[in-house]
Amino acid sequence: AAPVSVIDPGEIWAISRYDDVVSVLKNPAVFSSQGLRAATEQPWAGYNPLTDSLVLLDPPRHTAIRSLVNHAFTLRVLPRVEPLARKVARAFAERASRGLEVDICDDLATTLPAQVIGNLLGLDDACDKFRTWSETIVAISPGTPEALRPSIVASIAELGQYLEEVFEDRRRARRDDLASDLLDAEIDGRRLDQAELMSFMFVLFVAGFETTTHLLVNSLRILAERPELLARLREAPSVIPHFVEEALRFDPSVHVTLRVATRDTEIAGVPLPAGAVVAALLASANRDETRYEHADRFDVDRDRKPSVAFGHGIHFCLGAPLARAETRIAFEELVPRVGAIHVTQEPTWNCGLTVRGVTSCRMRF
Ligand code: HEM
Repeated sequence: AAPVSVIDPGEIWAISRYDDVVSVLKNPAVFSSQGLRAATEQPWAGYNPLTDSLVLLDPPRHTAIRSLVNHAFTLRVLPRVEPLARKVARAFAERASRGLEVDICDDLATTLPAQVIGNLLGLDDACDKFRTWSETIVAISPGTPEALRPSIVASIAELGQYLEEVFEDRRRARRDDLASDLLDAEIDGRRLDQAELMSFMFVLFVAGFETTTHLLVNSLRILAERPELLARLREAPSVIPHFVEEALRFDPSVHVTLRVATRDTEIAGVPLPAGAVVAALLASANRDETRYEHADRFDVDRDRKPSVAFGHGIHFCLGAPLARAETRIAFEELVPRVGAIHVTQEPTWNCGLTVRGVTSCRMRF
């Protein structure tokens, strides 16, 4: 593939190779995330808390916010996730072991991340709305078709109102959740203001939900096409973490991430002007044949070279350990209980550029 392709002449430069993608992501001074804020500040969308979130910040502000949320998140995440994820996954696996045909997107692939993220953030009683909120809000961009806009505006308002109620409740009485932690957290010796609180919760919710759904569905589809691999995982459950890692490389939930050039620069000898929007093609980098031998082959035994499924550098996914744990646990519960996995109806796809995956996929176990 061409290392750099101009997609939208004069607007978007797409970067396809692993080394070039990594050098873009590790150089926030030249390839800025903050420069993308305008894309989420669509006049028709009103105020969008994602605009103020850490995904769209550069250092030094990003560094301060990230270290705060790193702390609150890592302390809480893994010890809490394991038992809850296992309970949800086991309940599904037991149903599946008795023979089950379901749309997996309406079942495990949504319920598992919804329960986990809801529980961590402290949102557990609105699970049925989570999918709509996350799928619509993530679709916001300068090119959002007119017809989709009202649903995005409604989701931002509903999630916003819901989160405000959560914070109001925790102000009265703290609980064991991230909303309570954030109320007590400090940056530069002061408490977070309401806008900062909201942007944290928005970004964790939006970044952490649909991405995990897609990883679960993609991994299940990979197994459905490879019965011999399902048998291998049943024989050797210690291979499951490598299976998850290879699924992330082979079919990542986030296909593209964007940056804006802060000055005239070049990538792979191709000049880019200041202001150029750079699309780092993570899915393409993960199949770069100069890094991965037989890159288009799904191989749980390949050399363990990291992929860019979770990005690289300062914005490396905060939720990577969480997403990995949820998926590993799902397969640890499912694999010993099911004899086969069949896709019984062609899946339907979303039209996302960044978060790309199927929205409906019937499977029989
Ligand atoms: C950032 C992928 C799950 C929270 C990112 C980035 C990628 C990514 C590629 C980097 C974006 C960039 O550089 O512009 C994924 C995938 C997931 C997943 C593939 C699941 C399979 C999660 C979960 C959470 C989460 C479960 C939290 C609950 C975040 C946050 C950031 C981020 C907060 C921004 C970090 C920063 O800007 O410093 N994710 N993610 N993600 N992810 Fe994830």
